[in-house]
This record gives sequence, structure tokens and C-alpha cells, in this order.
Amino acid sequence: MENADKLLGKLAWIIKKYYDHSQKVPVLKYKSPQTISKEIDIKIKKDWTSIDKLFSQLEKIALNSPKTSSKWFFNLLFGGKLMPAVMAEMLTAVLNNTMHTYKSAWVHILLEKEVVSYLSKKIWYTNWDWIFVPWASIANLVAMIIARNAKNIQIRNKWLANQKMVAYSSDQWHYSIIKSANIIWIWRENVRIIKSDKNGKMDLIDLEKNIKSDLAKWYLPFFINITLWTTVLWAFDPIVDTAKIAKKYKIRLHADWALWWSVSLSRKHKHLLGGSQLTDSFAWNPHKMMNIPILASLILVKDKTILQKNFDETADYLFQMDSQSYNPATKSIQCGRRNDALKVWTALKYLWDKWYEDRINKQFDNVKTAINIIQKDKDLKLIIQPECINVCFQVKAKSSRKICEELDKQWLIKVWYWHRNWQEFIRMVCVDADMSTKDIQNFFKLVKSI
Ligand SMILES: Cc1ncc(COP(=O)(O)O)c(C=O)c1O
Repeated sequence: MENADKLLGKLAWIIKKYYDHSQKVPVLKYKSPQTISKEIDIKIKKDWTSIDKLFSQLEKIALNSPKTSSKWFFNLLFGGKLMPAVMAEMLTAVLNNTMHTYKSAWVHILLEKEVVSYLSKKIWYTNWDWIFVPWASIANLVAMIIARNAKNIQIRNKWLANQKMVAYSSDQWHYSIIKSANIIWIWRENVRIIKSDKNGKMDLIDLEKNIKSDLAKWYLPFFINITLWTTVLWAFDPIVDTAKIAKKYKIRLHADWALWWSVSLSRKHKHLLGGSQLTDSFAWNPHKMMNIPILASLILVKDKTILQKNFDETADYLFQMDSQSYNPATKSIQCGRRNDALKVWTALKYLWDKWYEDRINKQFDNVKTAINIIQKDKDLKLIIQPECINVCFQVKAKSSRKICEELDKQWLIKVWYWHRNWQEFIRMVCVDADMSTKDIQNFFKLVKSI
């Protein structure tokens, strides 16, 4: 291709510069949208831009992006960088295959199958069905559609005015649950927000009380969502007992396990997944604990036929070759799909069991280090005993909000705060497996310096 060598060279140079810059300036000085608009030529104009000018713009854009892979990024539930997976992601853009049929993606359909088959053998899901979806939020949506249709498959064909269906989730849910209800015409008012206990876990007495009250009004309970782990507190809703309630009232049980399945790679921590086979479906984001570039998300369902039953439509113009099991669009909420499997496959192939296991263990070890530091320091207070890799704490007598804002302003650390029951606290995410003990110690030193 014309200019290919030159462009690749320029791109490699920008990437290298970006990573070097991330070491030297891990957190950027805040710039308002107005300032950024002045510094970067954002407007798309009618006249032509030379390649050199364009790449100098791309370089500026790269250097003005939040440094999610730096050692100072404790802000979100993804982070770090696994270079082979990053490279596979770049290759995905070059190959530009859509994953709806075998005809259009060939080997990539096989790689996708292998990723899930490999991971499912590690635990007990060998007979489940699955599909990569764009986000965990979409996995939650798919699960809710399946549960709604399970109550009355006619709802696929027409509006059923007399069916008032209700869903249940704790007040610690991810907001995609309520969005899904809105999208599929269950409506917000029919999602019961169940209380959580002091540790952030769903209160099952309140759950059953709500179900009984709905049944007494002739409503139709159809969906219980449990969150394992919750977004902020990383609480683990009680799975076994919720499963008993779901079974008793014949309600589908979905686990929003966006953060979760990656733990299956660690023999030491895999026990945390106990009871998970009792759910009917779950959502999972490898892009979180596996440090794979965003996005990589899946929905997994217990019944092998249920995705097809709910999402297959006649499209003979598409499915002309190969059996249905090689044409994933016959069970997908969308038609074309991005190839998110290649980077997950690359990471697994490169790191194999042992190294991945070490990485997952390291995330838990970093949490332990953080807890140790907090418990030994009289100025710090642990808000909740972490069950996974989020650490929620306070600096006593100081505002968590102000600390986080100041850390950002002084270009020190990216970290986030939240509040619950009128208590403000800092949420430190230990998701980057390349963080060292020294990085964790330094984090607290900087937090305390504010
Ligand atoms: C528990 C939980 N569920 C769902 C999501 C949404 O994931 P996504 O951003 O992939 O839609 C998140 C995101 O952090 C989450 O923490």
C-alpha cells in the first residue's frame, strides 16, 4: 500500500512517545474542553490536511489522553496494559473482519470458540452457550430479554398489555440493569430496588418481601439480578440463597459478574466463584481483571439453545454457508460484531495458565498490601473489608472528594471517591497487575500528602 511503511513508522513513533510520556507524566494537568479545543485542531474542515500534519495532530491527541495504563491510574475498573493483547487489538483493526458468519471471519470464529471453551473447562460451564457482546451492559440487557421472553415467548411477536412483569436488583446494582428495563418496555417503575446490608450485599428478606407483595398484586416476577462483585464496594450478593428464592418463585437468576470470571484463572481464588453454576446467565468483562484493552465482554447462558431461541431471525441472505454454530449472528443481539476475541486469545496463548494465575494473584496481593497499610496507619480507615480488588477507605477528618480533586489538580494520581450512608470515601482499584508494592505504598504516601 502506498505510504504504508511511512505511516506505520509514524504510528509506532507516536505509540512509543505515548508510553514514554506515560512514565514521565502519568497524570495530566486538567484541561477544560475550551482549552483542549484551542490546543488541538478538532474542527473537520473542507480543505485537505497533509499526512505529516495529520500525524502531528494524532500525536497531540495521544499525549492529551488520560493515561489509563500508567502506574498512577487507580480510577476505573480496567487499566494496565498487556502488550501482546494491545498489539492483537491493533491487528484486529487492520484485519477488519466482522464476526457474524464463518464466511466473513474464518479463523477468528474458531479462536472465539477456543477462548470460551478453554475458560469454561477451568470451571464447570462446559455445557453453557455464550456470545461476545459489545459491553457488559449489553450482556445484562440480553439476559433480561431472555428472562422476559421465558415468561411468555409471544412477547417477541406482539405487545402483551396484561402482563406486568417485575425485576429485582439490589441498590448496589450497576445502572445498566435499570436501563435494560427501560429499553425492553418493562419500565423503571417495575424494577424493585432491594435494600443492601451494611456490607453492600442484597438483603434477601427484603427481596422475598417484594416478590410476595408483587405476586399478591398479580404482577409477574421474571428476573433477579445479583451483582458479584458490585461496582463500588465490591460486595458479593449471596448467590446460593438467592438461587433458592429464584427457584422457589420460578424467576430467572442473572449474575452481573462483569468483573468476575477472570478469577477462574487463579487456583487460589477460584473458590470465590462457588455457587455460580446456580445462575441462569451471567455477564463477564475480560477487559477488566485480565488487563486486556477495552472492549471484551460476554454473556453466558446455562441453556444451550436459549440464545438461538431468542435472537435467531430469518436472514437467508446472510447465512448461506456453514452450520449455525459457525454463524454466531444467529444467536447474537446484533448482526456484525467486532472481533474482540483475538486479543483475549492472544493474551491467553501468551501468558498461559501459570503467568495469568500469577497476575490475578498479584491483584489480590496488592489489595492485601493496601489493607495492611491502612490498618497500620492511625490516619486511615478501611470502610469495608474488600472481597476482591477494590479498596474503599478514608483519610480521617479529611474530605475524600477534596483529596481526589487535589490529587488530580496536582497531577499526582487518578482515583475516585464515592459516598454511602452519608460517608464519603476513596475507592482505590487494584486492577493493574503490574503495580508493585512500592507503587501501592507510594499511592498512600501521596494521598496522605494532601
Ligand atoms: C458490576 C458491573 N456491571 C456492569 C458494568 C458495565 O460494564 P460495561 O462498561 O462493560 O457496560 C460494570 C462496569 O464497571 C460493573 O461494575
